[in-house]
Amino acid sequence: MEEINFFSPASVANVSCGFDVLGFCLDPIGDEMVVRRTVAPGVKISKIEGQDLPFDVKKNVAGVAAEALLKEFPVDFGFEIEIYKKIKAGSGIGSSAASAAGSVYGINELLGRPFTAHELVSFAMEGESVACGAAHADNVAPVLLGGITLVRSTAPLEVIKLPSPSELTAVILHPKIELKTLHAREILKKNVSMEKAVQQWGNLGAFVSALYQEDYELMSRSLKDGIVEPMRSLLIPNFENLKKASKDAGAIGFGISGSGPSVFALTQGLKTAKEVAEALKKNISSIGIDFELHISNINNQGIKVIAD
Ligand code: HSE
Repeated sequence: MEEINFFSPASVANVSCGFDVLGFCLDPIGDEMVVRRTVAPGVKISKIEGQDLPFDVKKNVAGVAAEALLKEFPVDFGFEIEIYKKIKAGSGIGSSAASAAGSVYGINELLGRPFTAHELVSFAMEGESVACGAAHADNVAPVLLGGITLVRSTAPLEVIKLPSPSELTAVILHPKIELKTLHAREILKKNVSMEKAVQQWGNLGAFVSALYQEDYELMSRSLKDGIVEPMRSLLIPNFENLKKASKDAGAIGFGISGSGPSVFALTQGLKTAKEVAEALKKNISSIGIDFELHISNINNQGIKVIAD
């Protein structure tokens, strides 16, 4: 194979109770990418459409991730990468992760899959660290493994793919303001009280258990964040009202998607998801902020090859 064309999806990280460790993969939103083998060695970003991003491989997350992979698997030929961005940078739904995960996925396929999807996560994470100033895998892991993932550890890397209950549906609201992950991380306090930590690990453990049991009520009780959300929600317009509107419309959970400004709601089933989307639309429209709304199932496959 000389060339591969694929869809690299958006993702939701943190999922309220799992800051830096939980994430899930979305379906209808994502970038398209092409990775092509070249005679000239090294990595080249040959095309970027839809966003103003650096072509310099050392500054582009896709380039950094690709070079991290090729450092572990040197070859005497090279690769060029085309990126057609649909996920806006700074939207909170894993724009940089889609590019970083996509580039290592494409190269790995063209090399005949020397690495497992799990191994690719660590290369993609290196790309993420360029964009966010910290290496975390909660967006790249669900893109590469599909579904819902839990990062038990980044060094050494250990990611667990969790079950995706069949009716679990996500609603994503992207208020069109830009929030850089780097900034949204800088505002976080470095210490957590014992009381809050106990609540949070109780919720995280219960959420994981609820996924295995398909217990939507337990999911609802567990999708809480007493640590990061109180600090970051101040950066998101109308956050508390949006949360109330989504809960009133039947959402089992509502929170900040990654570092924001996008927010997500989870529902049991598509019907409730549509009602939640309608409630969020009404609420955000009332404050006059431009937005995008998406409804998505949990994408259990992750990256998808686009047939010719
Ligand atoms: N876990 C990350 C954060 C996700 O919340 O900062 C965004 O990249």
